[in-house]
Amino acid sequence: MCNDEPRKRRTALAVLGFMVLLFALLSVFSFTGSREQALPQQVSFDGHSAVDGRRVFQAYNCMGCHTIVGNGAYFGPDLTDLYRRTGPAWLAAFLPSANAWPTAAAIRLQLRNPAVAEAAGTDDFDAYLERYPAAHERIERRGGKSTHMPTLPFTRDEIGQLVAFLRYTSELHTEGWPPVPMPGVREAAAAARDAGAGAGVGTTAIAHGASASGSTAAAVATAPSAATADLAAQGGQLASELGCLACHSKGTERVVGPGWAGLYGSQRALADGSSVSADDAYLVDSIVHPDAHVARDYPPGVMPSYEAITTAEQRDAIVAYIRSLGSSK
Ligand code: HEC
Ligand code: HEC
Repeated sequence: MCNDEPRKRRTALAVLGFMVLLFALLSVFSFTGSREQALPQQVSFDGHSAVDGRRVFQAYNCMGCHTIVGNGAYFGPDLTDLYRRTGPAWLAAFLPSANAWPTAAAIRLQLRNPAVAEAAGTDDFDAYLERYPAAHERIERRGGKSTHMPTLPFTRDEIGQLVAFLRYTSELHTEGWPPVPMPGVREAAAAARDAGAGAGVGTTAIAHGASASGSTAAAVATAPSAATADLAAQGGQLASELGCLACHSKGTERVVGPGWAGLYGSQRALADGSSVSADDAYLVDSIVHPDAHVARDYPPGVMPSYEAITTAEQRDAIVAYIRSLGSSK
Protein backbone atom coordinates (compact mmCIF):
# COMPACT_ATOMS: atom_id res chain seq x y z
CA MET A 1 0.00 0.00 0.00
CA CYS A 2 2.75 2.37 1.04
CA ASN A 3 4.63 1.40 -2.16
CA ASP A 4 1.78 2.85 -4.25
CA GLU A 5 2.47 6.44 -3.14
CA PRO A 6 5.54 7.18 -5.37
CA ARG A 7 3.88 5.54 -8.39
CA LYS A 8 0.74 7.66 -8.04
CA ARG A 9 2.88 10.73 -7.63
CA ARG A 10 4.83 9.89 -10.78
CA THR A 11 1.60 9.38 -12.72
CA ALA A 12 0.20 12.67 -11.45
CA LEU A 13 3.38 14.49 -12.42
CA ALA A 14 3.39 12.84 -15.85
CA VAL A 15 -0.22 13.92 -16.47
CA LEU A 16 0.56 17.42 -15.24
CA GLY A 17 3.64 17.56 -17.46
CA PHE A 18 1.59 16.46 -20.44
CA MET A 19 -1.03 19.12 -19.74
CA VAL A 20 1.62 21.84 -19.43
CA LEU A 21 3.15 20.72 -22.72
CA LEU A 22 -0.25 20.66 -24.40
CA PHE A 23 -1.05 24.12 -23.06
CA ALA A 24 2.28 25.45 -24.33
CA LEU A 25 1.80 23.89 -27.76
CA LEU A 26 -1.73 25.19 -28.16
CA SER A 27 -0.63 28.64 -27.01
CA VAL A 28 2.10 28.68 -29.63
CA PHE A 29 -0.39 27.40 -32.23
CA SER A 30 -2.84 30.19 -31.43
CA PHE A 31 -0.16 32.75 -32.22
CA THR A 32 1.15 31.16 -35.40
CA GLY A 33 0.24 33.39 -38.31
CA SER A 34 -3.42 33.76 -39.06
CA ARG A 35 -4.13 30.08 -39.67
CA GLU A 36 -5.42 31.06 -43.12
CA GLN A 37 -7.62 33.69 -41.50
CA ALA A 38 -7.86 36.99 -43.38
CA LEU A 39 -6.06 39.88 -41.68
CA PRO A 40 -7.32 43.45 -42.05
CA GLN A 41 -3.85 44.79 -42.85
CA GLN A 42 -3.67 42.43 -45.83
CA VAL A 43 -7.00 43.37 -47.39
CA SER A 44 -7.42 46.49 -49.47
CA PHE A 45 -9.65 48.02 -52.11
CA ASP A 46 -8.64 50.73 -54.58
CA GLY A 47 -5.56 51.53 -52.49
CA HIS A 48 -7.56 51.79 -49.24
CA SER A 49 -6.89 49.52 -46.32
CA ALA A 50 -9.44 47.53 -44.35
CA VAL A 51 -7.79 48.81 -41.16
CA ASP A 52 -8.82 52.38 -42.04
CA GLY A 53 -12.20 51.05 -43.11
CA ARG A 54 -12.76 49.58 -39.68
CA ARG A 55 -12.08 53.02 -38.19
CA VAL A 56 -14.63 54.63 -40.53
CA PHE A 57 -17.12 51.88 -39.70
CA GLN A 58 -16.71 52.68 -36.01
CA ALA A 59 -16.70 56.46 -36.47
CA TYR A 60 -20.11 56.38 -38.17
CA ASN A 61 -21.46 53.89 -35.67
CA CYS A 62 -22.69 51.54 -38.39
CA MET A 63 -23.02 48.91 -35.64
CA GLY A 64 -25.77 51.00 -34.08
CA CYS A 65 -27.96 49.63 -36.88
CA HIS A 66 -26.06 46.73 -38.49
CA THR A 67 -24.58 43.44 -37.29
CA ILE A 68 -21.10 42.56 -38.50
CA VAL A 69 -19.13 39.43 -37.58
CA GLY A 70 -21.64 38.63 -34.87
CA ASN A 71 -21.75 42.07 -33.20
CA GLY A 72 -24.17 44.95 -33.49
CA ALA A 73 -27.84 45.65 -34.02
CA TYR A 74 -30.50 44.30 -36.33
CA PHE A 75 -32.16 47.48 -37.55
CA GLY A 76 -30.25 47.08 -40.84
CA PRO A 77 -29.14 43.82 -42.50
CA ASP A 78 -26.07 41.80 -41.46
CA LEU A 79 -23.12 43.14 -43.46
CA THR A 80 -20.54 40.40 -42.76
CA ASP A 81 -20.48 38.71 -46.16
CA LEU A 82 -22.31 41.31 -48.23
CA TYR A 83 -19.19 42.13 -50.28
CA ARG A 84 -18.98 38.54 -51.48
CA ARG A 85 -22.61 38.63 -52.59
CA THR A 86 -22.99 42.12 -54.06
CA GLY A 87 -19.38 42.88 -55.04
CA PRO A 88 -17.40 46.12 -54.88
CA ALA A 89 -19.20 48.00 -57.68
CA TRP A 90 -22.57 47.69 -56.01
CA LEU A 91 -21.21 48.76 -52.62
CA ALA A 92 -19.29 51.68 -54.12
CA ALA A 93 -22.50 52.79 -55.81
CA PHE A 94 -24.68 52.27 -52.74
CA LEU A 95 -22.64 53.87 -49.96
CA PRO A 96 -22.44 57.50 -51.19
CA SER A 97 -26.21 57.78 -51.62
CA ALA A 98 -27.56 55.12 -49.29
CA ASN A 99 -31.05 56.61 -49.23
CA ALA A 100 -31.72 55.11 -52.68
CA TRP A 101 -30.88 51.69 -54.17
CA PRO A 102 -28.34 51.76 -57.01
CA THR A 103 -29.62 51.49 -60.57
CA ALA A 104 -28.01 49.47 -63.37
CA ALA A 105 -26.45 52.68 -64.73
CA ALA A 106 -24.79 53.39 -61.40
CA ILE A 107 -23.14 49.94 -61.45
CA ARG A 108 -22.00 50.34 -65.07
CA LEU A 109 -20.40 53.60 -64.09
CA GLN A 110 -18.53 52.00 -61.21
CA LEU A 111 -17.25 49.22 -63.48
CA ARG A 112 -15.52 51.86 -65.61
CA ASN A 113 -13.20 52.52 -62.70
CA PRO A 114 -10.27 50.11 -63.30
CA ALA A 115 -9.73 49.60 -59.55
CA VAL A 116 -13.34 48.56 -59.09
CA ALA A 117 -13.27 46.29 -62.15
CA GLU A 118 -10.08 44.67 -60.90
CA ALA A 119 -11.51 43.96 -57.47
CA ALA A 120 -14.72 42.69 -59.05
CA GLY A 121 -12.83 40.45 -61.45
CA THR A 122 -14.67 41.84 -64.48
CA ASP A 123 -15.57 45.15 -66.11
CA ASP A 124 -18.52 43.65 -67.94
CA PHE A 125 -21.92 44.47 -66.50
CA ASP A 126 -23.59 41.15 -67.35
CA ALA A 127 -20.62 39.14 -66.09
CA TYR A 128 -20.75 41.17 -62.90
CA LEU A 129 -24.40 40.33 -62.30
CA GLU A 130 -23.63 36.70 -62.95
CA ARG A 131 -20.85 36.76 -60.43
CA TYR A 132 -22.69 38.77 -57.78
CA PRO A 133 -26.28 37.59 -57.92
CA ALA A 134 -27.24 39.61 -54.85
CA ALA A 135 -26.36 42.78 -56.76
CA HIS A 136 -28.53 41.62 -59.65
CA GLU A 137 -31.40 40.85 -57.35
CA ARG A 138 -31.14 44.25 -55.64
CA ILE A 139 -30.98 46.22 -58.89
CA GLU A 140 -33.95 44.35 -60.26
CA ARG A 141 -36.17 44.50 -57.25
CA ARG A 142 -35.22 47.83 -55.71
CA GLY A 143 -33.02 49.81 -58.15
CA GLY A 144 -33.87 53.53 -57.98
CA LYS A 145 -36.27 53.12 -55.07
CA SER A 146 -35.66 54.66 -51.67
CA THR A 147 -34.12 52.75 -48.75
CA HIS A 148 -34.48 52.95 -44.98
CA MET A 149 -30.82 53.73 -44.52
CA PRO A 150 -29.82 57.36 -44.05
CA THR A 151 -27.29 58.89 -46.43
CA LEU A 152 -24.11 59.58 -44.48
CA PRO A 153 -21.67 62.35 -45.47
CA PHE A 154 -18.76 60.16 -46.62
CA THR A 155 -15.72 61.44 -48.46
CA ARG A 156 -14.53 59.50 -51.46
CA ASP A 157 -11.71 57.99 -49.40
CA GLU A 158 -14.06 56.86 -46.67
CA ILE A 159 -16.20 55.04 -49.23
CA GLY A 160 -13.14 53.16 -50.53
CA GLN A 161 -12.08 52.36 -46.97
CA LEU A 162 -15.51 51.01 -46.06
CA VAL A 163 -15.55 48.80 -49.15
CA ALA A 164 -12.10 47.49 -48.14
CA PHE A 165 -13.41 46.74 -44.66
CA LEU A 166 -16.46 44.90 -45.98
CA ARG A 167 -14.18 42.97 -48.32
CA TYR A 168 -12.16 41.92 -45.30
CA THR A 169 -15.14 40.76 -43.25
CA SER A 170 -16.46 38.82 -46.24
CA GLU A 171 -13.14 36.96 -46.44
CA LEU A 172 -13.18 35.93 -42.78
CA HIS A 173 -13.88 32.31 -41.90
CA THR A 174 -17.01 32.71 -39.83
CA GLU A 175 -17.94 29.04 -39.75
CA GLY A 176 -20.93 29.64 -41.96
CA TRP A 177 -22.24 32.75 -40.20
CA PRO A 178 -24.46 34.54 -41.17
CA PRO A 179 -26.55 31.66 -42.51
CA VAL A 180 -27.34 31.70 -46.22
CA PRO A 181 -30.97 32.33 -47.18
CA MET A 182 -33.33 29.39 -47.42
CA PRO A 183 -32.98 27.40 -50.68
CA GLY A 184 -36.43 28.54 -51.76
CA VAL A 185 -35.36 32.16 -51.63
CA ARG A 186 -32.28 31.48 -53.67
CA GLU A 187 -34.27 29.55 -56.26
CA ALA A 188 -36.71 32.40 -56.59
CA ALA A 189 -33.81 34.79 -57.11
CA ALA A 190 -32.26 32.45 -59.68
CA ALA A 191 -35.55 32.13 -61.50
CA ALA A 192 -35.85 35.89 -61.64
CA ARG A 193 -32.33 36.02 -63.01
CA ASP A 194 -33.02 33.38 -65.64
CA ALA A 195 -36.00 35.38 -66.79
CA GLY A 196 -33.26 37.79 -67.85
CA ALA A 197 -35.41 40.82 -67.18
CA GLY A 198 -32.59 42.62 -65.41
CA ALA A 199 -29.82 42.35 -67.97
CA GLY A 200 -29.63 45.54 -69.92
CA VAL A 201 -32.23 47.44 -67.91
CA GLY A 202 -29.97 50.47 -67.97
CA THR A 203 -28.97 50.30 -71.61
CA THR A 204 -32.41 49.88 -73.05
CA ALA A 205 -33.73 52.67 -70.91
CA ILE A 206 -30.85 54.95 -71.78
CA ALA A 207 -30.94 54.11 -75.46
CA HIS A 208 -34.64 54.82 -75.41
CA GLY A 209 -33.97 58.14 -73.74
CA ALA A 210 -31.40 58.99 -76.40
CA SER A 211 -33.57 58.30 -79.39
CA ALA A 212 -36.55 59.97 -77.81
CA SER A 213 -34.66 63.14 -77.01
CA GLY A 214 -33.21 63.05 -80.52
CA SER A 215 -36.68 63.11 -81.97
CA THR A 216 -37.80 65.90 -79.68
CA ALA A 217 -34.94 67.99 -80.99
CA ALA A 218 -36.61 67.79 -84.42
CA ALA A 219 -39.91 68.80 -82.90
CA VAL A 220 -38.45 71.95 -81.35
CA ALA A 221 -38.77 73.89 -84.58
CA THR A 222 -42.52 73.37 -84.85
CA ALA A 223 -43.78 73.45 -81.27
CA PRO A 224 -41.17 74.94 -78.97
CA SER A 225 -43.00 74.92 -75.64
CA ALA A 226 -44.40 71.40 -75.97
CA ALA A 227 -41.02 70.14 -77.07
CA THR A 228 -39.31 71.79 -74.12
CA ALA A 229 -41.73 70.16 -71.72
CA ASP A 230 -41.15 66.86 -73.49
CA LEU A 231 -37.40 67.26 -73.27
CA ALA A 232 -37.66 68.07 -69.56
CA ALA A 233 -39.80 64.97 -69.05
CA GLN A 234 -37.12 62.87 -70.79
CA GLY A 235 -34.55 64.48 -68.57
CA GLY A 236 -36.53 63.65 -65.45
CA GLN A 237 -36.75 60.04 -66.55
CA LEU A 238 -33.02 59.93 -67.24
CA ALA A 239 -32.16 61.55 -63.91
CA SER A 240 -33.98 58.76 -62.16
CA GLU A 241 -32.57 55.93 -64.31
CA LEU A 242 -29.02 57.22 -64.04
CA GLY A 243 -29.32 57.44 -60.27
CA CYS A 244 -28.89 61.25 -60.07
CA LEU A 245 -31.92 61.49 -57.82
CA ALA A 246 -30.21 59.29 -55.25
CA CYS A 247 -27.93 62.27 -54.57
CA HIS A 248 -29.96 65.29 -55.73
CA SER A 249 -33.43 66.27 -54.60
CA LYS A 250 -36.01 67.85 -56.89
CA GLY A 251 -36.54 70.40 -54.14
CA THR A 252 -34.03 72.68 -52.49
CA GLU A 253 -32.87 70.34 -49.73
CA ARG A 254 -29.39 68.91 -49.68
CA VAL A 255 -29.05 65.14 -50.03
CA VAL A 256 -25.50 64.22 -51.02
CA GLY A 257 -25.31 67.01 -53.58
CA PRO A 258 -27.29 70.26 -53.83
CA GLY A 259 -31.04 70.26 -54.47
CA TRP A 260 -32.04 71.15 -58.03
CA ALA A 261 -34.99 73.47 -57.45
CA GLY A 262 -33.99 77.04 -58.21
CA LEU A 263 -30.52 75.95 -59.28
CA TYR A 264 -30.90 76.95 -62.93
CA GLY A 265 -29.62 80.45 -63.53
CA SER A 266 -28.58 81.02 -59.91
CA GLN A 267 -25.15 82.25 -58.78
CA ARG A 268 -23.23 79.28 -57.42
CA ALA A 269 -20.55 79.72 -54.79
CA LEU A 270 -17.71 77.30 -55.50
CA ALA A 271 -15.28 75.59 -53.15
CA ASP A 272 -12.35 77.59 -54.57
CA GLY A 273 -14.00 80.84 -53.48
CA SER A 274 -15.11 81.91 -56.96
CA SER A 275 -18.69 82.02 -58.14
CA VAL A 276 -20.34 81.13 -61.39
CA SER A 277 -23.73 81.41 -63.01
CA ALA A 278 -25.54 78.07 -63.33
CA ASP A 279 -26.30 78.35 -67.04
CA ASP A 280 -26.64 75.48 -69.50
CA ALA A 281 -22.89 75.24 -70.07
CA TYR A 282 -22.13 75.11 -66.34
CA LEU A 283 -24.75 72.43 -65.70
CA VAL A 284 -23.60 70.26 -68.60
CA ASP A 285 -20.02 70.64 -67.44
CA SER A 286 -21.05 69.63 -63.90
CA ILE A 287 -22.34 66.35 -65.33
CA VAL A 288 -19.28 65.72 -67.49
CA HIS A 289 -16.55 67.01 -65.15
CA PRO A 290 -18.04 67.10 -61.64
CA ASP A 291 -14.73 68.01 -60.07
CA ALA A 292 -14.00 70.93 -62.39
CA HIS A 293 -16.20 73.27 -60.32
CA VAL A 294 -17.05 71.89 -56.92
CA ALA A 295 -19.99 73.54 -55.17
CA ARG A 296 -19.03 75.17 -51.87
CA ASP A 297 -19.57 73.02 -48.73
CA TYR A 298 -19.81 69.85 -50.81
CA PRO A 299 -17.25 67.05 -51.09
CA PRO A 300 -15.23 66.68 -54.30
CA GLY A 301 -14.84 63.24 -55.85
CA VAL A 302 -18.19 61.88 -54.70
CA MET A 303 -20.21 62.59 -57.84
CA PRO A 304 -19.03 60.35 -60.69
CA SER A 305 -18.53 61.73 -64.20
CA TYR A 306 -21.37 60.76 -66.51
CA GLU A 307 -19.46 61.67 -69.65
CA ALA A 308 -19.01 58.09 -70.83
CA ILE A 309 -22.54 56.87 -70.27
CA THR A 310 -24.58 59.84 -71.49
CA THR A 311 -24.91 61.48 -74.89
CA ALA A 312 -24.92 65.25 -75.41
CA GLU A 313 -28.68 65.03 -76.12
CA GLN A 314 -29.29 63.24 -72.86
CA ARG A 315 -27.31 65.84 -70.94
CA ASP A 316 -29.36 68.59 -72.62
CA ALA A 317 -32.52 66.78 -71.58
CA ILE A 318 -31.35 66.59 -67.98
CA VAL A 319 -30.47 70.29 -67.99
CA ALA A 320 -33.96 71.02 -69.39
CA TYR A 321 -35.33 69.00 -66.49
CA ILE A 322 -33.28 70.93 -63.93
CA ARG A 323 -34.50 74.16 -65.55
CA SER A 324 -38.10 72.93 -65.27
CA LEU A 325 -37.63 72.64 -61.51
CA GLY A 326 -37.46 76.40 -61.29
CA SER A 327 -34.87 79.01 -62.04
CA SER A 328 -33.88 82.03 -60.08
CA LYS A 329 -33.90 84.24 -63.17
C1 HEC B 1 -29.69 54.59 -38.60
C2 HEC B 1 -29.40 53.22 -38.91
C3 HEC B 1 -28.28 52.92 -39.88
C4 HEC B 1 -26.97 53.30 -39.82
C5 HEC B 1 -26.29 54.19 -38.79
C6 HEC B 1 -26.30 52.65 -40.92
N1 HEC B 1 -27.19 51.90 -41.64
FE1 HEC B 1 -26.79 50.80 -43.29
N2 HEC B 1 -28.74 50.31 -43.49
C7 HEC B 1 -29.72 50.63 -42.56
C8 HEC B 1 -30.96 50.03 -42.98
C9 HEC B 1 -32.30 50.15 -42.26
C10 HEC B 1 -30.70 49.32 -44.18
C11 HEC B 1 -31.69 48.54 -45.03
C12 HEC B 1 -32.37 49.52 -45.93
C13 HEC B 1 -33.58 48.95 -46.64
O1 HEC B 1 -33.75 47.73 -46.69
O2 HEC B 1 -34.34 49.80 -47.16
C14 HEC B 1 -29.29 49.52 -44.46
C15 HEC B 1 -28.64 48.98 -45.55
C16 HEC B 1 -27.26 48.99 -45.71
C17 HEC B 1 -26.54 48.30 -46.75
C18 HEC B 1 -27.17 47.44 -47.84
C19 HEC B 1 -27.44 46.10 -47.22
C20 HEC B 1 -28.04 45.10 -48.17
O3 HEC B 1 -28.16 43.93 -47.77
O4 HEC B 1 -28.43 45.46 -49.28
C21 HEC B 1 -25.21 48.55 -46.56
C22 HEC B 1 -24.06 48.08 -47.41
C23 HEC B 1 -25.11 49.40 -45.41
N3 HEC B 1 -26.37 49.66 -44.92
C24 HEC B 1 -23.91 49.87 -44.92
C25 HEC B 1 -23.80 50.73 -43.83
C26 HEC B 1 -22.54 51.26 -43.35
C27 HEC B 1 -21.18 50.93 -43.92
C28 HEC B 1 -22.84 52.09 -42.31
C29 HEC B 1 -21.89 52.95 -41.51
C30 HEC B 1 -20.99 53.80 -42.25
C31 HEC B 1 -24.28 52.06 -42.13
N4 HEC B 1 -24.82 51.23 -43.07
C32 HEC B 1 -24.95 52.78 -41.16
C33 HEC B 1 -29.58 51.41 -41.45
C34 HEC B 1 -28.41 52.03 -41.04
C1 HEC C 1 -23.04 59.86 -55.57
C2 HEC C 1 -23.79 61.09 -55.50
C3 HEC C 1 -24.09 61.85 -56.78
C4 HEC C 1 -24.67 61.36 -57.92
C5 HEC C 1 -25.09 59.94 -58.22
C6 HEC C 1 -24.85 62.49 -58.78
N1 HEC C 1 -24.36 63.63 -58.18
FE1 HEC C 1 -24.37 65.53 -58.96
N2 HEC C 1 -23.35 66.21 -57.35
C7 HEC C 1 -23.02 65.46 -56.24
C8 HEC C 1 -22.27 66.30 -55.31
C9 HEC C 1 -21.68 65.84 -53.97
C10 HEC C 1 -22.20 67.57 -55.89
C11 HEC C 1 -21.53 68.81 -55.29
C12 HEC C 1 -20.03 68.75 -55.54
C13 HEC C 1 -19.71 69.13 -56.94
O1 HEC C 1 -20.09 70.22 -57.36
O2 HEC C 1 -19.08 68.31 -57.64
C14 HEC C 1 -22.89 67.48 -57.18
C15 HEC C 1 -23.04 68.54 -58.07
C16 HEC C 1 -23.84 68.52 -59.18
C17 HEC C 1 -24.16 69.66 -59.98
C18 HEC C 1 -23.71 71.09 -59.73
C19 HEC C 1 -24.71 71.65 -58.74
C20 HEC C 1 -24.41 73.00 -58.19
O3 HEC C 1 -25.13 73.36 -57.23
O4 HEC C 1 -23.49 73.68 -58.62
C21 HEC C 1 -24.98 69.21 -61.00
C22 HEC C 1 -25.61 70.06 -62.10
C23 HEC C 1 -25.14 67.80 -60.83
N3 HEC C 1 -24.43 67.40 -59.71
C24 HEC C 1 -25.88 67.00 -61.66
C25 HEC C 1 -25.96 65.61 -61.55
C26 HEC C 1 -26.59 64.75 -62.53
C27 HEC C 1 -27.30 65.24 -63.76
C28 HEC C 1 -26.43 63.46 -62.09
C29 HEC C 1 -26.86 62.17 -62.78
C30 HEC C 1 -26.54 62.05 -64.18
C31 HEC C 1 -25.73 63.52 -60.83
N4 HEC C 1 -25.45 64.85 -60.54
C32 HEC C 1 -25.41 62.43 -60.04
C33 HEC C 1 -23.31 64.14 -56.03
C34 HEC C 1 -23.88 63.28 -56.96
